[in-house]
Amino acid sequence: MATVELEHISKIYPNGTAGVTDLSFSMQEGEFLVLVGPSGCGKTTALRMVAGLEEITSGSLRINNKEVNNVAPKDRDIAMVFQSYALYPHMKVRDNLAFPLKLQKMPKEEIEKKVARAASILGLEEILDRKPSQLSGGQRQRVAMGRAIVREPAVFLMDEPLSNLDAKLRVQMRSEISKIQRQLGVATLYVTHDQVEAMTMGDRVAVLKNSFLQQIDSPQRLYDHPNNLFVAAFIGSPSMNLFEGEIEFNSTGANLNFGNQTIYLDNKVTSLHPSLRSFNQRRIVFGIRPEDLYDASLANQNPNFQSIKAKVSLIEALGSEKLIHFTINANAGITDDIKQIAEEKGAMDSLLGSQGNSQAEGVARFPPRSAVKRDELIEILVDTTNMHFFDIDTGFSIWE
Ligand SMILES: Nc1ncnc2c1ncn2[C@@H]1O[C@H](COP(=O)(O)OP(=O)(O)OP(=O)(O)O)[C@@H](O)[C@H]1O
Ligand SMILES: [Mg+2]
Repeated sequence: MATVELEHISKIYPNGTAGVTDLSFSMQEGEFLVLVGPSGCGKTTALRMVAGLEEITSGSLRINNKEVNNVAPKDRDIAMVFQSYALYPHMKVRDNLAFPLKLQKMPKEEIEKKVARAASILGLEEILDRKPSQLSGGQRQRVAMGRAIVREPAVFLMDEPLSNLDAKLRVQMRSEISKIQRQLGVATLYVTHDQVEAMTMGDRVAVLKNSFLQQIDSPQRLYDHPNNLFVAAFIGSPSMNLFEGEIEFNSTGANLNFGNQTIYLDNKVTSLHPSLRSFNQRRIVFGIRPEDLYDASLANQNPNFQSIKAKVSLIEALGSEKLIHFTINANAGITDDIKQIAEEKGAMDSLLGSQGNSQAEGVARFPPRSAVKRDELIEILVDTTNMHFFDIDTGFSIWE
């Protein structure tokens, strides 16, 4: 049984802006579903329509199999957690938690029981008699969660609930929310613009762009089989390397020519992407994840590995690995989509630097023992079986 179903839901604001366009998905019971995408893509709009805070322009919204398009928020059996905690400053934690239940005119003993249970789930027992001003950011966020939990709703709705916390606390609360959600088994629709948060928390992740759903899938499927360039570039950190090339088939496989180099794809590799053949002698975008690039001086021989040459521009030694930034003689696979993502990820400068002068930038994940040096011309091995290919005009992935 699905708990929340959106069927062709659209929102057009009075000024004509499309907030959400033709959004359809079903949440399963107990599912943690994350909506992710760049600023302005429609995440909050979608969530607010489910909450009943925003009128639905067209489409059907069902909660527990009942259409609720015209049902008031308080009658939808949902509880929402916002970015701003919106706690009552003059009330103790205990009363903040009890408040939504008092509004429901619940008997006092029952309220006490539910508050105690929520406090124990969230580890708030010690601070029940404090006021919000006497709490840390993480504790405040937990109280805000507690206020949603006590209501025992059918669905939790959360809009960037962790964005006010510092990085360390965010990571900690991330796993706490996941744990609590699993424990309670309540379907949760969670909004974030942070793809790492989306990937680590979601059973499934829905990626939105400019009001349109791009793909909805498990985190691993999104990572391994992105539908299009946008999802490919958005999911993963560092991002997938994207370059332009021309593919040329021959009897044993295909040559992928880019800049002054060629990557040979044997028949085994091209057969992983049958429709690649229809792009023969055309320009395409190809993608390689940073972990599918190997330091040639360390890697073992492997028939799927093909060598390319690149110049090291920067090394980030992270202890467990080295991120090797390099430039390569090629055109970067930059579309408007990719520009938007780069802007969000704060990588615009390096991208723009690589545009037009046929020097593209890339990143490889090497083991810490890699001895490559800055400014060195190095040989990198590409695992061709894990390469991605995209139609340069539509941005769609080339798979079947
Ligand atoms: N009340 C409104 N009137 C008109 N347009 C609106 C209104 N609220 C949002 N929009 C527009 O609808 C689109 C989606 O906005 P929304 O707030 O849903 O984005 P978001 O994905 O939540 O972004 P962010 O990550 O910045 O919170 C944007 O283009 C936004 O400008
Ligand atoms: Mg928002």
